Amino acid sequence: MNYGHFDDHNREYVITQPDTPLPWINYLGCQAYFGIISNTAGGYSFYRDARLRRITRYRYNNAPGDFGGRYIYVRDDDSGEFWSPSWQPTQAKLEDYFCRHGLGYTIIGSRSNGIEARTRYFVPLDENLEIWQVTVTNHRQRVANLSVFSAIEFCLWDAQDDSTNFQRNFSIGEVEIEGGVIYHKTEYRERRNHFSFFACSEELTGFDTQREAFLGPYRGWGNPAVVESGKSRNSEAHGWAPVGSHHVRIPLNPGESRQVLFLLGYQENPRQEKFDPPDSLIINKKTTKPIIARYLAPAMADTAFERLRLYWDELLGLCQVETPDVHTNRMVNIWNAYQCMATFNMSRSASFYESGIGRGLGFRDSNQDLLGFVHMVPGRARERILDLAATQLPTGGAYHQYQPLTKRGNNDIGSGFNDDPHWLILGVSAYLKETGDWTLLDELVPYDNAPGSEKPLYEHLERSFRYTLDRLGPHGLPLIGRADWNDCLNLNCFSDTPGQSFQTTTNKDGKVAESVFIAGLFVLAGRELARIACHRGLAAESSCYLAEVLKMETTIREHGWDGEWFLRAYDDFGRKVGSKENAEGKIFIETQGFCSLAGVGLKDGLPARALESVRRLLATEHGIVLQQPAYSKYYLELGEISSYPPGYKENAGIFCHNNPWVMIGETRVGNGDAAHDYYSRINPSAREPISDIHRCEPYVYAQMIAGRDAPTHGEAKNSWLTGTAAWNYHAVTQWILGVRTDYEGLRIEPVIPKNWPGFRASRKFRGVCYHIEVQRTGPGNVVSLEVDGAPIQGNLVPLPPAGTKTVTVKATLR
Ligand code: GLC
Ligand code: GLC
Repeated sequence: MNYGHFDDHNREYVITQPDTPLPWINYLGCQAYFGIISNTAGGYSFYRDARLRRITRYRYNNAPGDFGGRYIYVRDDDSGEFWSPSWQPTQAKLEDYFCRHGLGYTIIGSRSNGIEARTRYFVPLDENLEIWQVTVTNHRQRVANLSVFSAIEFCLWDAQDDSTNFQRNFSIGEVEIEGGVIYHKTEYRERRNHFSFFACSEELTGFDTQREAFLGPYRGWGNPAVVESGKSRNSEAHGWAPVGSHHVRIPLNPGESRQVLFLLGYQENPRQEKFDPPDSLIINKKTTKPIIARYLAPAMADTAFERLRLYWDELLGLCQVETPDVHTNRMVNIWNAYQCMATFNMSRSASFYESGIGRGLGFRDSNQDLLGFVHMVPGRARERILDLAATQLPTGGAYHQYQPLTKRGNNDIGSGFNDDPHWLILGVSAYLKETGDWTLLDELVPYDNAPGSEKPLYEHLERSFRYTLDRLGPHGLPLIGRADWNDCLNLNCFSDTPGQSFQTTTNKDGKVAESVFIAGLFVLAGRELARIACHRGLAAESSCYLAEVLKMETTIREHGWDGEWFLRAYDDFGRKVGSKENAEGKIFIETQGFCSLAGVGLKDGLPARALESVRRLLATEHGIVLQQPAYSKYYLELGEISSYPPGYKENAGIFCHNNPWVMIGETRVGNGDAAHDYYSRINPSAREPISDIHRCEPYVYAQMIAGRDAPTHGEAKNSWLTGTAAWNYHAVTQWILGVRTDYEGLRIEPVIPKNWPGFRASRKFRGVCYHIEVQRTGPGNVVSLEVDGAPIQGNLVPLPPAGTKTVTVKATLR
């Protein structure tokens, strides 16, 4: 069953039923001010950091599941009836409900009793505020005397503290109301220099800022006393729970429409200029008032919205494809690219599943996110790389994550994940391939942010590489440390204490357990580093790296191959993990995918055999599961992976993040049919008709789909913030469609399904627009290129002379 449909022309997903299986969300903002918004207007806003600068409150894991939002109530003042045009929170019956999730905006509307109301929510570019454009239309034959109420609940900034420290928080809430604008200023009187504001374009009939006054005792957001009675209390919050609600009356003639604008924004003042007058405790609003005035001016919201549209036109215009498959087109051209922006911005911090307080920006995650983002805003990718590298430790290792506001690494979820450093090499190489900006490598970057420790970024990459060489285990494979890509394969943890973190507990000295995955990653990253070194004129170093890579390949072939597939690891007893010798967890996807994509043993046909085993043992109609057989019980020596019930998450769930590794592996052995088939199995758009099973949004990837061992096989969870976004984008654009960035130019090497007659693509690359047309004349993957009419050798389109605007490439596949 479908709960809506794609509107590809407008680049929107249109939800037509408010009670979707799960909240289907979207993001507002793409620079510094962000919001999450669900199809029923649930969600919250924050400035830069979802934990430390939370602007509005949200109640995770509540019932109903999506609670706290940007709510509007419409009240018929003649009958006393009231409803929310976004269905929540009143859940009153609506006609013609729709939610259009677009790129950086969401429009929610409906009709009730002949009154139509729709709200467009978005964050203007370069501003720290969101606009709610509410349009109310009277379709009745008579005058409608209506009231509109807005409602938000302020968060007392630190979302973690806000949801736990009530003994303090119930006494500190403070607001100011001036000229119809509600200012939230909790803690502004002492150490904070930021506040938020909530403004309305219309003259107010009243307002409320104290939650209890607005809702009334023992009432919830579904039936606030103020809305029911049609009378605001003009309450001023002192302590308890500050909220923001405006009340405006709008009498409408038959057929008449009116727009009411609300602005919710974040603002900082310099410390010395916090108050006006200076010796008072009143917020200095000198810089804020002009912003409010500007965005409440009638045409401004539309102008700002147009700018946002153009911004996305331009970003998405960088890579557009036209293939025979509508789901491929839709994901590549719109939604997957859009999701890559969200994962770049949020890392794994704030979604419907990530509470915004648990995880900052991950070292591994953020580097991988670059694969899908770097072509969009390379300048921001560059900045991110430098920020990440600055948290690298002098050993070459890394903190597993850092808080975006402070940009400092933290040990909250541990460090010593021995794969981490290599992702920096891959992030940097993706940037260099995209931009050709080799100056990045000369940037001076500190270790662990320590002043005086600055070294060229290139040296950071070297240390990343050496980190593994300094930590080899008994078989010559990399020691796993706390875990590798699979956070839950905790081979040095041995935790038997309830509640203990698998991510920070280590009971072993870590000198035995090895990871074949890191070995594969080392091969891939090492080859890139060798090419980078070569480009810097460091031929000797380059050969050194290559020698180490070859050695590692040999080690994998000797100690990391199980006969039919790649092994996964060796545990702390030196026993195999992911081997036919194991009773459970005989075969894992990660090493099959990653070693294949890295080309380990390509000449001896190992990837082809490993991939054949994947097809036989791991592939399901809903995607490829992480391992088989699932662990049926807890294995002390394996850690968190076996803590999950079979079929979920890392214990044999379909972890969508690593499916694209298999897809790329399939392209490397020339199997376009298999690659695209796997791509389609987890493609959210292709899964739209089974929304009742899939349950998550049909327009973005989820981290996980329940595996075949789970009773809910096919059900997705953890949508939006996952490495799945970047990896699928990378796999389909660069490997299946084969429009691949490289240091010296753009490579065209498609490995597409046999029954595709071809496809077209346009790709902006280093300032030049490449128009690419691929035509199939035979069933294979042998490609011949014609560039601007002239045939060339090989598959690398050389960089055109400076000043060239467009290049036309004709590729023939036979
Ligand atoms: C999550 C983490 C990612 C990890 C993966 C597998 O997606 O964000 O870093 O690699 O889980 O455990
Ligand atoms: C990753 C894994 C998850 C694990 C978490 C620990 O996100 O997907 O299963 O619990 O890391 O931080």
